[in-house]
Amino acid sequence: MDLTDQFSRPLRDLRISVTDRCNFRCPYCMPADIFGERYQFLPKPQLLSFEEITRLTRIIVRLGAVKLRLTGGEPLLRQDIERLVSMLDGIDGVDDLAMTTNAYLLPQKIDALKAAGLQRLTVSLDTLDDDIFRQMNGGRSGVKKVLEGIAAAEAAGFTPLKINCVVQRGVNDHTLVDLARFFKERGHILRFIEYMDVGNKNGWKMEQVVSGREIVERVDAAMPLEAIASNYFGEVARRYRYADGGGEIGVICSVTQPFCGSCTRMRLSPEGQIFTCLFAIEGASLRDPLRAGANDGELEDIIRGTWGDRIDRYSEIRSSLTEDARDRRKKVEMYHIGG
Ligand code: GTP
Ligand code: 5AD
Ligand code: SF4
Ligand code: SF4
Repeated sequence: MDLTDQFSRPLRDLRISVTDRCNFRCPYCMPADIFGERYQFLPKPQLLSFEEITRLTRIIVRLGAVKLRLTGGEPLLRQDIERLVSMLDGIDGVDDLAMTTNAYLLPQKIDALKAAGLQRLTVSLDTLDDDIFRQMNGGRSGVKKVLEGIAAAEAAGFTPLKINCVVQRGVNDHTLVDLARFFKERGHILRFIEYMDVGNKNGWKMEQVVSGREIVERVDAAMPLEAIASNYFGEVARRYRYADGGGEIGVICSVTQPFCGSCTRMRLSPEGQIFTCLFAIEGASLRDPLRAGANDGELEDIIRGTWGDRIDRYSEIRSSLTEDARDRRKKVEMYHIGG
């Protein structure tokens, strides 16, 4: 019998956050005034080693996960990340091994990642306007650095790439069509993400969300679109192709059209806790039992129990919570479990 949760959802994806650090300070994720020079990130001994991550992943794959994604923070900040990629690539039963990155360090890492067996890459880029981009990453990078990372990924054969764009009303929403046109010409798949109330630090307001429907209308007005079917059960992006045959875009409508009903994702934090929702309040530690000498069967029981008890559907209940109830909920931070 396949492992399923309380709403019969199977476990299919594992998102592995390898570090809580990032070289950017996007205000919607790690606002610079909170994550300043003195902010204490996790000390190295608390992080899972690559051997520990691989051992846990092997168990989670046995329980049904077929897709793995490395995230952070910024995963390329973890030293020798390519070594982990090659260890994960060696696990039987993994169909897909991907990474989400801000691309700043890609030019120097891309060949090693390719050689290690990384299959797919998603790059975050919210706008092509340099001033707005700096505002959206806390002044850490211009657009040029990210485009260099993208060019390196293209040269190494990671095509098509997926490009993630978080849309915030009044910040970058007037630049979306330019971004779409740019990536249409280059044959990459741009996905617009509705701005979410992840974590407790971004001061999210519903008025800042631009709905996926509005985004599609705006792109469609400039370059006509047609809806197309999902690639697989539980895909978060709704897909649209350009009517002229020039590729596709996606919209991820976690606020206005939640997809909890088909959510098959488990998240592993850098210090070895598993979370069953992006908006979870707490996780279950696997590192503590692992370091106390638990065998694989005992670790498997914890994972089975955690997934089996799962009732998360935050995005579906968000609108029924009062602002006050939302503010009081102490959620895990996005940079901690990687989007
Ligand atoms: P593939 O289909 O495997 O290419 O990847 P994906 O669509 O899962 O893409 P990715 O992992 O880049 O996810 C895109 C974005 O969707 C994330 O960065 C999040 O912002 C959002 N997202 C992904 N999974 C969830 C989820 O379970 N819940 C919510 N609310 N948002 C999610
Ligand atoms: N809302 C929506 N997407 C977000 N991301 C980070 N914070 C948020 C948020 N508050 C996105 C990043 C990246 C991915 C990992 O998650 O831009 O593309
Ligand atoms: Fe870093 Fe990504 Fe968070 Fe921006 S969204 S601060 S790039 S982890
Ligand atoms: Fe899954 Fe939680 Fe996102 Fe719903 S809100 S799709 S349960 S991670």
